[in-house]
Amino acid sequence: MRFFTEYIRKQFPALSVKVNEYPAAYFDGPGGTQVPQRVIDAMVDCLAYSNANAGGKFLTSQRSDQVVKGAREALADFLGACSEEIAFGQNMTTLTYQLALALARNPGYRNEIIITEIDHEANRGPWLALEERGFTIREVKMEPETCTIDMKDYQDKLSDKTLVAAFNYASNCVGTISDVKEMIRLAHQAGAITVVDAVHYALHGPIDVRDLDVDYLLCSAYKFFGPHIGVFYGKKERFAELPAYRLRTQKSAVPHCIETGTHNHEGIAGAAEAVEFIADLGKYFGNLEEGSRALSVPEWSERRRRVVAGMEMMELHEKPLADKLLDGLSNIDQVRVYGPPSGHARTSTIAFTVDGITPDQVAAKLGEKGVFVWSGHFYAIRPVERLGLDQSGGLVRVGICPYNTAVEIDRLLEQIRTIVASS
Ligand SMILES: Cc1ncc(COP(=O)(O)O)c(C=O)c1O
Repeated sequence: MRFFTEYIRKQFPALSVKVNEYPAAYFDGPGGTQVPQRVIDAMVDCLAYSNANAGGKFLTSQRSDQVVKGAREALADFLGACSEEIAFGQNMTTLTYQLALALARNPGYRNEIIITEIDHEANRGPWLALEERGFTIREVKMEPETCTIDMKDYQDKLSDKTLVAAFNYASNCVGTISDVKEMIRLAHQAGAITVVDAVHYALHGPIDVRDLDVDYLLCSAYKFFGPHIGVFYGKKERFAELPAYRLRTQKSAVPHCIETGTHNHEGIAGAAEAVEFIADLGKYFGNLEEGSRALSVPEWSERRRRVVAGMEMMELHEKPLADKLLDGLSNIDQVRVYGPPSGHARTSTIAFTVDGITPDQVAAKLGEKGVFVWSGHFYAIRPVERLGLDQSGGLVRVGICPYNTAVEIDRLLEQIRTIVASS
């Protein structure tokens, strides 16, 4: 594991940043990870040598078309999809608005939409906006004690009137991983379309859209070492029928129908390189031997196998660090951790409060020592409200990434003990 960490860390220029002589420890990954040099290079290269609009009859335009085509293939390997099912957009939020508006276009008997209390606003606001078009939005409860979806409530809310069930794969606030495969199965049983927000989960485990059988799944490359660009997956047979709003000059076929305006080519180049970065982790460190999960689907491409193996390596790296942090926090009396119970599926994102000190104050004090964490609601304002923390400044959130180390966790815990002692 030491070689894995060294291999990763030397690729991130941002790790050389210092604050008051303290090396920066980036625990802000759920807000956006740092970017390896090779991703930066791919973006610069795109701007330098492939900078033209799409569809031209000359070299640089042909190159930029190749960049986009290659990136669809890379992101398809990332998600277990095929390349015509991958579209790019400004970010997950904007793509979700586009999707919601498109799905609401032909209202019929199915006029209910399911959202959840555990979700980020990006997977709530676009659906809530459909209320003004006559849709009824039904909100599934989160159990505050366990920070998990109330599955009975979910089943009760699904009906033959449900058009869409929208929920996250994992919570960017408290790290809970939901049983999305079962949620998708139940939604399909009721005849509903499923939309999964995989923005937080995408860094924390391999995604397999075929195995999930999800209809639409969205993520954002800046959460997995890429630039700020949204990634959209649409199951071909569903996506082909999506009445997306588009210009008459725009291609109507998938995946172009949802891609309004000119692409962010350099962002797309960076997203593809982020996938290559993860695939290389699988190639150099992952288990690609018999019995490995990376070989479980014979049709997978070599890159897809490496991606799965790379994701597994990242999980292997992060799990002991998350356990160490949870253990350390549980030994500080003034700290209260919020999240799923031990043994429940979770990401390495950990949220807590400190008695008598606001999350912003904790984050600011840590920031002075070069320890970067987020504080507040992280746009996951609904779960923060449900936890009763919206009036007290929300939570402190620590996200663990493959470039984090046990030494950094020790620094973080030591600083929290100092903050508590001096309060
Ligand atoms: C779980 C989750 N969903 C959605 C979003 C919004 O993504 P974007 O910034 O790409 O719109 C975020 C961003 O933090 C997130 O963490």
